[in-house]
Amino acid sequence: MTVRLLAPAELASRVDDAATLMGECIDEGASVGWVLPYDHSDLVHFWRAVANRAAAGELVVFCALLDAELAGIVLLTRSGRPNGPHRAEIQKLLVSPRFRRQGLGRALMVEAETYAASEGLTLLHLDTAGEDAERLYQSLGWVYAGSIPNYALDPDGTPHATALYYRELPPR
Ligand SMILES: CC(C)(COP(=O)(O)OP(=O)(O)OC[C@H]1O[C@@H](n2cnc3c(N)ncnc32)[C@H](O)[C@@H]1OP(=O)(O)O)[C@@H](O)C(=O)NCCC(=O)NCCS
Repeated sequence: MTVRLLAPAELASRVDDAATLMGECIDEGASVGWVLPYDHSDLVHFWRAVANRAAAGELVVFCALLDAELAGIVLLTRSGRPNGPHRAEIQKLLVSPRFRRQGLGRALMVEAETYAASEGLTLLHLDTAGEDAERLYQSLGWVYAGSIPNYALDPDGTPHATALYYRELPPR
């Protein structure tokens, strides 16, 4: 397994792979923005926009590769606000259902956190709806900050709450 930064141009050339990975996660119930049935081309469009935002320096993408296959991905999105130069959001932590419980999710989070710390970021935050994801974040020391009921729909259309987490990183 290789976990590393995915350069914007590399993501741009792999938007179909990223869309397939996200589709696999949606198909097995992950609430990551879409409901069933979704259009694969919408997912491709999403990842193309991510690649453009990465090229503009708004976010950083990390990937987990297994024999060159895109098995996992996560985004680190800078606040972009004048009052939040120290802050970024973790988004779209996705590991293919075919490669779960092998440490990819943990390795992606550690890679993103290490990068954030090296950039001088001191506050990370995220929201999530998955129990597996919550266990992972808690085991990494993320702090539960509360939840918002009926925040979004599961892929099958059922409303669910979202849990908010944050993690403070030591100043450089
Ligand atoms: C959350 C997710 C990224 C975890 O990926 P993963 O590669 O399976 O995670 P890891 O193998 O690194 O597991 C790390 C830890 O998380 C916890 N964990 C992950 N999956 C779990 C499960 N099914 N049951 C219990 N604990 C789990 C455990 O503490 C685990 O450590 P362990 O294996 O040493 O016990 C993956 O399940 C996923 O993509 N889910 C769908 C999308 C999602 O919900 N994303 C997050 C919110 S946007």
